[in-house]
Amino acid sequence: MLLKLTVLSVSVLFNCYVSLAADPDPVQDLCIHSTELASGLQCKNSSDVSVEDFVYSGIAHPGEFSKETGLSAISVNVNIFPGLNTLGMSFVRADFDIDGINVPHFHPRATEIAFVLEGRVYSGFVDTENRIFAKVIEKGEVMVFPKGLVHFQMNVGDKPATILGSFNSQNPGLIRLPTAIFGSGIEEKLLKKAFGLSGKEISKLRNRLTPHEKS
Ligand SMILES: *[C@@H]1O[C@H](CO)[C@@H](O)[C@H](O)[C@H]1NC(C)=O
Repeated sequence: MLLKLTVLSVSVLFNCYVSLAADPDPVQDLCIHSTELASGLQCKNSSDVSVEDFVYSGIAHPGEFSKETGLSAISVNVNIFPGLNTLGMSFVRADFDIDGINVPHFHPRATEIAFVLEGRVYSGFVDTENRIFAKVIEKGEVMVFPKGLVHFQMNVGDKPATILGSFNSQNPGLIRLPTAIFGSGIEEKLLKKAFGLSGKEISKLRNRLTPHEKS
């Protein structure tokens, strides 16, 4: 009985350990990503560190909205907030116009938990068996998007919506499926066959998705 319990708790512990794995733990109190050095592994000289290194004010207001999608997203990762370096987490503010969407995308290095600050948002993800998990979440609710799975959102309310998201990586990465597929220069012949589209349709998608978008 005791042995069984021990085996059970070891396996519970093991499973928890596996599912909680994220960026490595820091080995010092602070390591502000040094902007002078190309390598993100170097820390800013700690005598030059101040409280300002731990504060980021760039998400007090929405960023610029995309005309195509009606979304403004500000990713507060280590690249714009060096104070996150080695801490294994980051953040995003996303604002949606009415009917605005966050196109199907995924983060290769992080699970995301998204909190609806304002509005009603159809939110969901698709697992590796193409099973969809989606519903409208309301102000005050959260939804979790498991690491690496394709997810999406759409404002279905009658006013703008705002979402705050947290990631268990300082640099979650972002792959937007439409841009990755049609905006990256994959051979047209391959895309035609993959999607059953004509050259004209592929060109239309390429023109729409190639320009200014960046992750
Ligand atoms: C950090 O800054 C202090 C004060 O300016 C200086 O004395 C020290 O040598 C610096 N340390 C490194 C590793 O550059």
